[in-house]
Amino acid sequence: MKPSVRIVEVGPRDGLQNEKATIATADKIALIDRLSATGLRSIEATSFVSPKWVPQLADAAEVFTGIHKQPGVRYPVLVPNEQGYVRARAVGVEEIAVFTAASEAFNRKNINASVDESLQRFAPVLERARADGVAVRGYVSTVLGCPYQGEVPLADVVRVAKALHDMGCYEVSLGDTIGIGTPGKARAMLVAVADEVPIGALAVHFHDTYGQALANILACLEEGVAVVDAAVSGTGGCPYAKGASGNVATEDVVYMLHGLGIDTGVDLSRLAETGRWLAALLGRETGSRVGKALAAS
Ligand code: HMG
Ligand code: MG
Repeated sequence: MKPSVRIVEVGPRDGLQNEKATIATADKIALIDRLSATGLRSIEATSFVSPKWVPQLADAAEVFTGIHKQPGVRYPVLVPNEQGYVRARAVGVEEIAVFTAASEAFNRKNINASVDESLQRFAPVLERARADGVAVRGYVSTVLGCPYQGEVPLADVVRVAKALHDMGCYEVSLGDTIGIGTPGKARAMLVAVADEVPIGALAVHFHDTYGQALANILACLEEGVAVVDAAVSGTGGCPYAKGASGNVATEDVVYMLHGLGIDTGVDLSRLAETGRWLAALLGRETGSRVGKALAAS
């Protein structure tokens, strides 16, 4: 296992995109500012997607403009097409993430495009990003199963991850969108992708629907992955993935990593405090077991 891991905090984006009640722009900004003070180095701030598709993040420009950006912290945003890229650049975004899936059925529901159409859509975005010096991350969803098509062949996961990397994504995040995977399958998937894409350019993104996320992450750490996506307080889910529940909680990942002697740079008690603050804001218990345990201790 690598001695240090970079966590990509996706709470403000993946965590909030599926919330039914409208969250005030000021609260989203406060969340990101709190996260910026925990030692996290990558915080996915919002999405410049169609507000008709994801109304909760319609205030992307206001959120991005309002946050107090800290030196050494990156604030990537999701961008589905050139229109999103232009909106993001207009407010000074310096890192974006494009997203597609290994499954045709899910991609159609999520971004109204086939996998190949989505890759074609990203080509001009990546070209502009290269010219502008904007870093691009890529997501592959449904790497361990699809809510619509069921099994997803490993070859499809490898093909899409390689395509994103070949197009210029500096990192490709492998998403178990519906949290259906188990450690053996997660490991096999990562090993297959790492045959085509250097392991140093791979990240893992587990939802915790079946309670397997930490075990899956551990299996992937053992294969040498050093970037892990997570959402504070275990919020999250994709509105276009039936049955998807929260991301693995960042607090739980940090606790496990520190227990393994792996450095994250994150102050766990500050992070847990932020998780409880968010849970109170959303009117429910924190989704982090570590957050709960620390509050009780
Ligand atoms: P479409 O309807 O096919 O696109 O949507 P369109 O080009 O026909 O546009 C429709 C309308 O949206 C038009 O407005 C456009 O102007 C507007 P109208 O003319 O009707 O008034 N529009 C936009 N507005 C603002 N910003 C934009 C934009 N693009 C179009 N960027 C589209 C195609 C891709 C836009 C849509 O499907 C979409 O926005 N989908 C996003 C869905 C989404 O955000 N899902 C969640 C994120 S993915 C995820 O959570 C998985 C992940 O976490 C990893 C994992 O867990 O696996 C990453
Ligand atoms: Mg996700």
